[in-house]
This record gives sequence, C-alpha cells and structure tokens, in this order.
Amino acid sequence: MQTHEEERVTSSKVQKNSTTLTSKQKQTVEKTVQLVKDTLGEEASGHDYFHIMRVRALAVRLAEEEGADVYVAELAALLHDIADWKFHGGDLSVGPRVASEWLQSLGESKETIDRVAVIIKEVSYKGAGVTTTPESLEGKVVQDADRLDALGAIGIARTFAYGGKFERQMYDPDQPPVMHQTFEEYKKAKGTTLNHFYEKIFLLKDRLNTDSARALAEERHKYVEEFVERFLQEWEGKK
Ligand SMILES: [Fe+2]
Repeated sequence: MQTHEEERVTSSKVQKNSTTLTSKQKQTVEKTVQLVKDTLGEEASGHDYFHIMRVRALAVRLAEEEGADVYVAELAALLHDIADWKFHGGDLSVGPRVASEWLQSLGESKETIDRVAVIIKEVSYKGAGVTTTPESLEGKVVQDADRLDALGAIGIARTFAYGGKFERQMYDPDQPPVMHQTFEEYKKAKGTTLNHFYEKIFLLKDRLNTDSARALAEERHKYVEEFVERFLQEWEGKK
C-alpha cells in the first residue's frame, strides 16, 4: 500500500510530462506508424509491427512517468527496429540512417532527427559483457521499453519465434550458455533458444535504466524464470 507521500510523488511524476503533441507532430507519428506497418508488418521473428506498437506504448508511458520528451521517445520507439543490425549483416549504422532519411522526408527538425538517430544506435542489446547505456533520458526509456517486451509471456513467445525463424535448436543440454563479451561474439552466436534466456533475457532486469521500468520488470522476470524451470523439469520427465 502506498503512503500519501508516495502517492503524491507518483502522481506528480506521472504528470511531469503530459505533453500534448502539435498537429504536425501527430501527423509525423501517424505516418511513421504506417511506415512501420508497411515495413515490418509481416515480420515473423518477434520484431514485427505489434512489437513496435507494444514498445511504443511502454516508451510513452515510461517517458511520461520519468519526465522525458514524449515525442522524441515515441518516434525513436517507432523507428528503433526499422532496419535492425540483426537483419542487415550486423551493420549498426543502417537503422539510424534509414530513420534519419525518413524523418527528413517528413520535414522534421535536425535536432529531433539527431536525437532519434542516436537513440536507435544505442538501444539494441549487444551481448552479456557489453554495456550500452543510452546517454539521453529518452534513449533510456526506449531501451527499457524494448527490454520489457523481451520479458514476461510475450518475451518467452518472442524468444521461441526468433529461434524458429533462425533455425536455432530449442534446447541441447550439452551446449552450455555463453556469456558473450563482445558485440562481435554476440552477433555470430548460434546457440539454442533456451540458452538465449541465460545469455540475454535473465540479465535484462538488472540492466534497466529507470525505476518505472524496474517496477514493471520484476513480475515479468519472475514469470520467465518459472517458465524455464518448468521447461527443464518437463525435459527430464520430472513434471
Ligand atoms: Fe525491438
């Protein structure tokens, strides 16, 4: 139960940035949603249009709670996987470039374009031993939103969808997880889907940037842990 003081802090936090977008900004958001739908609509590895919509909703929520620029966070969330390195030969520069060109074509300001491009470059997970903390508060909330979508029931479903798409084995007890120390190692990794939980998913809750995201992550993390535990028990015929 929250005390009065906590309630007051929470509600002032929520109201900290109740920005209303201008009609031009709304248009940019709408057109970007359409671009995402056209580009990622059919994607089947868990990085599809609906992943983007979930991340967008979480990013807007976290941006409001944390007092970040909602417009920049929303645009960056919408564009964060528009040309991800995973699907472009490991090239980290394609996403920011595609996003910048798109926003330029809509007449967006250079300042906003640059802020969004930096966030897109910073947000993705690059391995267990690689720390990537975005510089801006907007980057921090977008990274948190993206990571929250890798947790919980949806996170489990996405992990298996991704493994299937890239022909990863579901599980092999003889293959231990590998804690990738560099982005190069992580990019080349071909481990099993179950190992991905140890190599990435279980590490996420301690790598979140904001308290608002940490609060949401707790239950999602626990749910994934229970799932993996159960999976291993069934694997050995114990359940
Ligand atoms: Fe993503």
